[in-house]
Amino acid sequence: MGKVVLRASMSLDGFMTGPDVGTEHPMGRGGERLHEWLFDESDQGRQDAEIAREASAAVGSVVIGRRTFDLGLEPWGDVPFPVPCFVLTRESRDDLPMASGTFTFVDGSLPSALEHAQAAAGERDVLLMGASVGQQFLDVGLVDEIEIQLVPVLLGAGTRLFDHLGPEHIELERTEAIESPHVTHLRFRVVR
Ligand SMILES: NC(=O)c1ccc[n+]([C@@H]2O[C@H](COP(=O)([O-])OP(=O)(O)OC[C@H]3O[C@@H](n4cnc5c(N)ncnc54)[C@H](OP(=O)(O)O)[C@@H]3O)[C@@H](O)[C@H]2O)c1
Repeated sequence: MGKVVLRASMSLDGFMTGPDVGTEHPMGRGGERLHEWLFDESDQGRQDAEIAREASAAVGSVVIGRRTFDLGLEPWGDVPFPVPCFVLTRESRDDLPMASGTFTFVDGSLPSALEHAQAAAGERDVLLMGASVGQQFLDVGLVDEIEIQLVPVLLGAGTRLFDHLGPEHIELERTEAIESPHVTHLRFRVVR
């Protein structure tokens, strides 16, 4: 079985979006700064592009929150990765087939959502996307790895990635740190 990976681009002050997230600004005002590194097609961005390609290839299924789904559907025009995508929501909705995978809406416990995602992922990883979803999986000890693309900017406001986690320490082992001019790729194993 693959790993359960929480991955996000994050500002140095801990935000994964800018403020005022909504349809006009899916990443919050100015939040698209966090994903600029993905779109540099010059020589400077080659290493980042290679890392992003490798990371995508490891993804076997995705679990996202309903807000990430609502905000992402139009810009993606498809599932976020070409694999099955499970959307956590308390609303009941029919499956939504897209060109490269299907959105399946799941309610209920996190372990049961994860079970569906792991069955779909096979040997590959389950990727978690969205702050609330990431925080809840972390809180109940279901995350194996955290991958952060640390962007050299102080956003000042927005959605914090590591919020609402309570006072208990979550111990991490840093397993990778790759520098590039745009972003530092950090990988941590959650120590249990
Ligand atoms: N920086 C990055 O790399 C990155 C990556 C991904 C997303 N984002 C951004 O992050 C933002 C979204 O994050 P977010 O924290 O606001 O929202 P989110 O985690 O995407 O979604 C929250 C929603 O998911 C549903 N949900 C969460 N936990 C649930 C549970 N246990 N059971 C059932 N449903 C559950 C609820 O939907 P219902 O209200 O329908 O019940 C909840 O309102 C967006 O702005 C997105 O663009 C950034």
